[in-house]
Amino acid sequence: MNRVLAYPLTALAVVLSCAGLRALVAEDTEQRNYRFFPDMAVSGTHEAFDAAPGGTAMLPLVPGVVVRGELPLRFGPGPDEAQRAGRELHSPLREPTAADYEAGARLYGIYCSVCHDPAGNGRGRVVERGFLPPPSLHAARALAMADGEMFHILTHGQGNMASYAGQLSRDERWRVVLHVRRLQEESR
Ligand code: HEC
Repeated sequence: MNRVLAYPLTALAVVLSCAGLRALVAEDTEQRNYRFFPDMAVSGTHEAFDAAPGGTAMLPLVPGVVVRGELPLRFGPGPDEAQRAGRELHSPLREPTAADYEAGARLYGIYCSVCHDPAGNGRGRVVERGFLPPPSLHAARALAMADGEMFHILTHGQGNMASYAGQLSRDERWRVVLHVRRLQEESR
């Protein structure tokens, strides 16, 4: 193109595109500006495990899937299952280390002593403030309780005591059982 023409034409193009862009910006500040490709701003929402088109939501798990690294615990809630756990479930901490005992004591102090008190007599802080006192962990029932049954109580709860499976991992629950056993030994 002729150079003489090229400069004014370029200038005109710039002016026109500025004017064009200006037209896309709303005068009224309450109004949205023009949106190019609004797909990300207005995306469809789906619940997880929805049969969403194109598999865009998290898909339901294939039956039989287990959490990585953890085999399922095949015990339901309730006293019968607790008894069965007492017979069938054994602590994986066959030879507990000093660190296991230490962790058990620390976790008991955090999660259990508020109700059961540091010694396990069932006179913790919340009991002092009116919560129903738990039975002593030095009473005949708790002394005779198998490790597996106590683990089951920590996993599923019992009566007024809630489950601690959400706060304590499986290994941590076994370490807490270890600490309760030590408390019981100490008071015998
Ligand atoms: C909010 C208070 C509370 C906390 C915290 C709590 N417990 Fe309990 N616990 C109870 C009560 C109440 C019972 C009696 C439940 C029932 O049978 O109704 C109980 C029962 C038990 C029993 C069964 C005793 C028996 O003779 O049947 C064991 C074992 C036990 N708790 C251990 C623990 C351990 C270990 C922790 C810490 C991980 C813990 N509890 C945390 C209140 C609590």
